[in-house]
Amino acid sequence: MKAYRASLLYFAEPEAPGSPGAALYEEDGLLVTDADASGRRVVKAIGSYQQLAGRYIGVAIEHLPGRIIAPGFVDMHIHYPQLDVIGSPADGLLPWLETYTFPHEKRFAVSAYAAEAASFFIAELLRNGVTTALAFASSHAGSVDALLGEAQRRNLRMVAGKVLMDQNAPDGVRDELEQSLVETELLIRKWHGLDRLGYAITPRFVPSCSAAQLQGSGELAARFPDVWIQSHVAENRDEIAWVKSLYPDARSYLSVYEKFGLLRQRAVYAHCIHFDDDDRAVMRATGAAAAVSPTSNLFLGSGFFDYAGADRVGFLYGLASDVGGGTSFSPFHTMLAAYYVGREGQTKPGVSIAPQNLWWQHTAGAARAMGLEGVVGNLLPGCEADFVVLDPKATPLLARKTALATNLDELLFALIVLGDDRVIDSTVIQA
Ligand code: GUN
Ligand code: ZN
Repeated sequence: MKAYRASLLYFAEPEAPGSPGAALYEEDGLLVTDADASGRRVVKAIGSYQQLAGRYIGVAIEHLPGRIIAPGFVDMHIHYPQLDVIGSPADGLLPWLETYTFPHEKRFAVSAYAAEAASFFIAELLRNGVTTALAFASSHAGSVDALLGEAQRRNLRMVAGKVLMDQNAPDGVRDELEQSLVETELLIRKWHGLDRLGYAITPRFVPSCSAAQLQGSGELAARFPDVWIQSHVAENRDEIAWVKSLYPDARSYLSVYEKFGLLRQRAVYAHCIHFDDDDRAVMRATGAAAAVSPTSNLFLGSGFFDYAGADRVGFLYGLASDVGGGTSFSPFHTMLAAYYVGREGQTKPGVSIAPQNLWWQHTAGAARAMGLEGVVGNLLPGCEADFVVLDPKATPLLARKTALATNLDELLFALIVLGDDRVIDSTVIQA
C-alpha cells in the first residue's frame, strides 16, 4: 500500500443516471492505493486525513503540502499524427484536411517516424496531465503499433485505432478495402485488452469511407462488441453537404453511421455540432457518445456544440482536445474553450457551465461517456490510481487568484481560466 497526503479533488457518483457527479474536495486529505487481484494499482481509500490516517498506520505517507491531487484527465478524441498540424490555418475543415492533415499523416507510413512521434505525443499528454486518451492513429497499421507499444511501455490506459479511409483521399493515406479490414481485425486481436490498452475501429468520416468499408466496420463492431468505435460527425456545413450528396436518402449524417451498425455504447463521435433533436435522440437511444472539441471547433470555425440541446434530450458527452484541429493538449485550455462555447453556443441565452461540471466533463464524465466509469477519471475506491498533482500557485497570477478563492467553484475556475501545463506539478500513473 501507498498513501498520499494532499488536498484532494474527486467526484461523487452521479445521483441520477445522466446527471454529472458533484465535485468533492478534501482540504487535508489522504489517498491510499494498493494492488488489486490482477496487479493493477487502484484506489483503496480516499477522504479526510484526520478520519483515515488511523486506519493506515505503518503505511508510508508521501506528504504534498500546498498541492491538489485530482484524477488524471481523459481526452476523448485526439489525433496523434497531427502533432505538427496544430495551428495550421485554412478556410475550414475540408481545405485543412487536404492542405495540411493528409500530407502530415502520410509520414506515418515510416515506422521510425511514427515511433518518434508516438513517444513525443505520450510525453506531451502526460506533461499536460492527460492519463487516458481515445486516439486516432494514421491509416498505416504500423502507426497503431507505435502508439500502443509506447503506451504499453508506460503502462497507460489508452485506446487507439488505425484510420479507415479508402476513398476521397490522396495516395499515401488512402487505404484499400479488403486490406484495411483485415488489418483492423489483426490489430484488434493484437492489442485490445492487452494490459491497459484498447482498440477502436476508426472509420475517418463518411466521405472518406466507401459504403463497403463502413459496412465492414459495422460487421467488425458486431463481432467484437467491447471494442470502441470512433469517428467524426456533423462538424462542418460543407462536410454535411458532401455527405448529403453521397447519401441523398439518409435522414441525417448521423443516420448513415446508424445504418451501418456504428452507433452503440463505446462509439465516440467527435463534434456532433449540427444535430437536430432526432439525432440527439438516436445518440441517447444507442448509447453513443459525443467528444466535444471546443478549441478545434473554434479554430476551424466549425460551429458550437449545443450543450442545452444535449442536456434537453440527454446523451453522453465529454471533452476532447481534437489535436491537431484543436489548438492545445492542455485540459485547462479545453475546459475554458468549452465554457466560452456554452456562453455563445447555438441556444440563446447561453449556458454558464459550472467549473465543477467542466472538470467533470474532462475526467469522470469523459470516462463515463467512453464506458470507463469507475475505471479511470475519478479517485473513488476501486478506480485505477492515475492522478495529477496540481500546483495552484504555479504562476504569480494564479497564486494571487487562488488565494482569494472562497469556495470550490472559485478555486476550480481560477485554475481553468488561468491554468495550463505549468499547473501540472506531476502526473502519476499507477501510483
Ligand atoms: N474529419 C475527418 N477527419 C478529420 C480530422 O482529422 N480532424 C477533424 N477535426 N475532423 C475530421
Ligand atoms: Zn478529430
